Amino acid sequence: MNYHVLTLFPQMIIDGLSTSIIGRAIENKLISLEAIDIRAFSTNKHKKVDDYPYGGGAGMVMQAEPVYLAYQHVTDKIGKKPRVVFLTPQGKVFNQEIAQDLAREEDLVFLCGHYEGIDERVLEEIVTDHISIGDYVLTGGELPAMVMIDAIARLVPGVLNNEVSAEFESFQDNLLEYPQYSRPVEWRGKKVPDVLLSGHHGNVDKWRREQSILRTKQRRPDLLEKAKLSKKEIDYLKDL
Ligand code: ADE
Repeated sequence: MNYHVLTLFPQMIIDGLSTSIIGRAIENKLISLEAIDIRAFSTNKHKKVDDYPYGGGAGMVMQAEPVYLAYQHVTDKIGKKPRVVFLTPQGKVFNQEIAQDLAREEDLVFLCGHYEGIDERVLEEIVTDHISIGDYVLTGGELPAMVMIDAIARLVPGVLNNEVSAEFESFQDNLLEYPQYSRPVEWRGKKVPDVLLSGHHGNVDKWRREQSILRTKQRRPDLLEKAKLSKKEIDYLKDL
């Protein structure tokens, strides 16, 4: 899985993703990360990449040509036209399902905007997916690109050293994850639930599933509509 980020701030991307699990995945060549400096493709002698908006208005607009040349740098290198994700508050709101879909791609391009936006013509030409990371406005697309890369890369086989940890977790089946406990058995007067100490796997699984349902009802009731529950679990939910 190869990520290519088109940005005016390449160092921000490299710094943000070079530690911890994603950093190790890059070192181990499970994924690759390339941050392409759009400014390097400026055709202007002062390396300018933005200009005033036609029609007037506040701010500057990123010009089409440097963005297009940066994109072409990627397509020339990989010899195909990958999906291009444009990070924008006007996009579809990112979620686990989109992460899973994008994790199947061999190459992904992330286009990060700044200023008041990017010339619409180049967006029409290259963008395949408009994605937002939530209904709020950030100063640029770099943080959203990093959020997406983290969420997608951890789904790539081998990136999480524990294969099962991506298996059951929040948003699996549209349920939130059950609570977790570790040693000591009693911490400041609070005890680990007895069932987890019982060694009875069937009871543990049942308890965890019920906790997931309970937690989702309390914290994210909107998710429950899409959750796949058995008849028994629907009854459990009704009794809560
Ligand atoms: N750029 C600015 N705000 C954004 C957001 N919420 N999501 C994605 N890209 C953005």
